[in-house]
Amino acid sequence: MHMLEPAVLDQLQTAARRAADLAYAPYSRFRVGAAVLAGGQIFTGANIENASYGLTVCAERTAVFQAVLAGHTRIEAVAVACVDAPDGTNPGSLMPCGACRQVLAEFSDPEIQVLVDRVRSFTLAELLPQPFKLDSF
Ligand code: THU
Repeated sequence: MHMLEPAVLDQLQTAARRAADLAYAPYSRFRVGAAVLAGGQIFTGANIENASYGLTVCAERTAVFQAVLAGHTRIEAVAVACVDAPDGTNPGSLMPCGACRQVLAEFSDPEIQVLVDRVRSFTLAELLPQPFKLDSF
């Protein structure tokens, strides 16, 4: 895994924060933005909620799906930003959820960086050490 330039990681983090502007979060009022680097391009996403709450899709997944639908199935880095959480929020409330970690694992090497705004950078392997993988039988 090659190291990414700090400037690229900064851009990714900024893109994640900005992407939260497009969140549809009238129920939680907790807007989240995400950005993934794939094929040298940045794809963004935001959470999209539903009146049937369980149908909500997180920011990380909408970003990953944008990349995949643009033809990129290898993700090189991810950033996420929970912009409505006040400063001093418990870091646990700023982290990607488990479902999104599994979706990221489908398209990423374990060593990619996951930049969590106002927390720190993790590898995906730190966040999800044993993802489910379906071998061909
Ligand atoms: N949310 C995300 O977008 N990403 C996560 O990893 C955790 C939670 C969203 C879903 C919901 O719209 C809101 O945050 C509150 O749970």
